[in-house]
Amino acid sequence: MLSKKIEAALNAQVQVEAMSSQAYLAMASWGENQGLSGTAAFLYKHSDEERLHMLKLVKFINERGGKAVIPALKQPSTSFKSITDIFKSLLFHETKVTQEINGVVDMCLKEKDYTTHNFMQWYVSEQIEEEALARTLIDKLNLIGNDKGGLYLFDRDLQGMSAAPAGMGHP
Ligand code: FEO
Repeated sequence: MLSKKIEAALNAQVQVEAMSSQAYLAMASWGENQGLSGTAAFLYKHSDEERLHMLKLVKFINERGGKAVIPALKQPSTSFKSITDIFKSLLFHETKVTQEINGVVDMCLKEKDYTTHNFMQWYVSEQIEEEALARTLIDKLNLIGNDKGGLYLFDRDLQGMSAAPAGMGHP
């Protein structure tokens, strides 16, 4: 059975994951309108993955005797300066998500809720992979600079790439 405190923290995390999904959906749509079809495909997939992260939390809260709250969401940013701007925003967002997750993990230890602590480890690993991937993509974009050919190849490479690291699986 979840304590009220842990239930509230997990519900706050539901909102964070839902907001991530919306934010990446807006980025995907921007990319699609710019003709960056690979980037758009990558971000649409990333948005779907964030929705799965949210769903995994919703189901866990309900299974553990709590009540998952499906949140209202704010309008995400819809205009971006460049593809680099997108991935910088994405990394900034993910580092904030990591802090939120660490906060939940910390609370689980304080509350001695080892079941939720164990459940949250999946998110801890996921954050390491997502931040690393975002940093790699930003490094590549910095190398490419204003080279249009490089950008074309970058976008093409993203077409088949998933935000979910290999072997991590889906919730
Ligand atoms: Fe749900 Fe981007 O971590």
